[in-house]
Amino acid sequence: MSHFSYQAGVLHAEAVALPKIAEEFGTPTYVYSKTALLQNFAAYHDACQGRDALVCYAMKANSNLAIIDLLARQGAGFDIVSGGELLRVIAAGGDPGKTIFSGVGKTVEEMKLALDKGILCFNVESIPELHRLNEVAGSMGKRAPVSLRVNPNVDAKTHPYIATGLKANKFGVAFDDALETYRAAASLPHLDVVGIDCHIGSQLLDDAPLLEALTKLIELIDTLGSEGIHLHHLDIGGGLGVNYGAEGDKPPVLVRDYLGRLFARIDAWRAEKHGGQPIKVIFEPGRSIVADTGVLVTRVEFLKPGEEKNFCIVDAAMNDLMRPTLYQAWMGVQEVAPRAGDKLTYDVVGPVCESGDWLARERALAVEQGDLLAVMTAGAYGMTMASNYNTRGRAAEVIVDGDQVHLVRQRENPADLFALESMLT
Ligand code: LLP
Repeated sequence: MSHFSYQAGVLHAEAVALPKIAEEFGTPTYVYSKTALLQNFAAYHDACQGRDALVCYAMKANSNLAIIDLLARQGAGFDIVSGGELLRVIAAGGDPGKTIFSGVGKTVEEMKLALDKGILCFNVESIPELHRLNEVAGSMGKRAPVSLRVNPNVDAKTHPYIATGLKANKFGVAFDDALETYRAAASLPHLDVVGIDCHIGSQLLDDAPLLEALTKLIELIDTLGSEGIHLHHLDIGGGLGVNYGAEGDKPPVLVRDYLGRLFARIDAWRAEKHGGQPIKVIFEPGRSIVADTGVLVTRVEFLKPGEEKNFCIVDAAMNDLMRPTLYQAWMGVQEVAPRAGDKLTYDVVGPVCESGDWLARERALAVEQGDLLAVMTAGAYGMTMASNYNTRGRAAEVIVDGDQVHLVRQRENPADLFALESMLT
């Protein structure tokens, strides 16, 4: 059930009318539902009950401290891709011991920070990274827990910018080189080889490619075992898609069904090959935890009818929400207080000086200047990808809990944007 619904003709987040939020906090504002967030996390958590499993929320999807805090309280671990994200986990009271560090370009400073804070595992993506991590750990008198991100060469059938598991992608160690790379890792004195991971792409509506990747990882774990390299965990990455609501879109596989199939396959393999010995399973979901928990509320500044197109110019722009222009992503746009009357077809665009600054194209809307619109399913990769292009302060963020509204990030002031700059003396 969506936690964004029309009540008396006005779109609400839980029990709060969006116009009330716009009045109090201005626009554009990201509005999240706490109940939706907890439900999405529970779908993973509940399916893992009674198992040695850890859900490491991929916080690149939405890293607001309040979201991290709420998830940490539910027992979430975190998947990070920078030292900055680790500092966010710590600032929000998350557990570094449940945090895994992904990404192809970890710096020496980031490795030191992560070792110092005692993270659960480094998801290593190349041989030079193994050597760097070995040196850094050695210099600190520590051993670094390591998993290798193996690239299973599976076609995730998603947008090319967010497919990551093919040979042509920069990510991971090629499947054919994995054995050699594991041998190299096992020979380094300051590394502990503990796991294997993969991540084949994002917004996957079908779990078949994920299960195909799992089969390849299982094969590799058995081969490694026969060489005396025994792994303690298997991390299948993130990637489950959500329903953005475009006409003709296929509904995404349910979390519960996907995890059920995945555990069934793992259990059958462990029973057959490992005498029923369990292996720890890690997930790195991002989008499926936060996407449908959020909307971006924006106000119509002007309507500009044209010969070829009608433009609905709103106060949110590509700097607030990059997904449409970057991936040609379709995001739903709804009138917050729908008007009776004829609809016109508009392109919904922002004030940024680029023709690529659009949020939605060819949408039938009955709107007037000053009306509010909500860009739906905007909780993932919305605020985290926002920029200050055109010296635009980033949006405010609020979390709604029943009839309560909590401001969890203030709107940026222009002065905040140049506070770190200086002129030549
Ligand atoms: N783990 C790793 C190593 C990843 O690279 C990602 C996402 C995830 C987990 C989480 O994947 P998810 O469950 O969210 O699909 N900005 C794009 C999505 C980029 C995804 C990058 N990696 C978008 O807005 O569609």
